[in-house]
Amino acid sequence: MSIAIRAAVADDVPVIASLIAAAYGVAMVKHHSALGREAFLEFAAPGAISARLAKDSEAWVAVGPDRSITGYAELEADHLRMLFVRHDLQRSGIGREFMKFLRVLRGGHTVTLNSAPNADAFYLAMGFLPTGPRQEANGIVFTPMEKKF
Ligand SMILES: CC(C)(COP(=O)(O)OP(=O)(O)OC[C@H]1O[C@@H](n2cnc3c(N)ncnc32)[C@H](O)[C@@H]1OP(=O)(O)O)[C@@H](O)C(=O)NCCC(=O)NCCS
Repeated sequence: MSIAIRAAVADDVPVIASLIAAAYGVAMVKHHSALGREAFLEFAAPGAISARLAKDSEAWVAVGPDRSITGYAELEADHLRMLFVRHDLQRSGIGREFMKFLRVLRGGHTVTLNSAPNADAFYLAMGFLPTGPRQEANGIVFTPMEKKF
């Protein structure tokens, strides 16, 4: 699918939050305990995204030919805090496009992330390697990974 990537702005937040909530419900919720769900939904709430955008996040949206938002990525320094593709468009190459974008943006840097179990295959295919075992913190299951771009 043909996409462009641009910086996320405050007006995008409602669409970003609903894209995340829908994708979360399909793929990730089953890997979280009630505590984890609560923590994640708080982290992904519109107000929390807006606050991070205003503070310490670098964030981008993928947009399709009709300019609708098809994905979202958020970095805190060299840590990829969030990567979400609209659930009905997953597996059409949008995640890979974000990775190409990151390669340019963070060339020479080691990017870290905490992969959800459902995303392990994607990140491994993109060249990330685990830096520790699959683990659980605050009801959220993840594997820490990194890649030098
Ligand atoms: C994980 C995610 C960001 C991947 O983005 P995507 O646009 O669906 O991935 P792509 O289509 O670019 O996939 C690139 C390659 O990764 C691998 N891959 C992606 N999803 C995969 C899956 N479910 N199983 C196995 N391999 C997969 C494949 O090699 C794929 O290439 P191919 O389709 O030519 O075989 C997306 O599925 C998503 O938003 N998931 C829900 C939210 C989430 O888990 N985010 C990460 C939190 S840590």
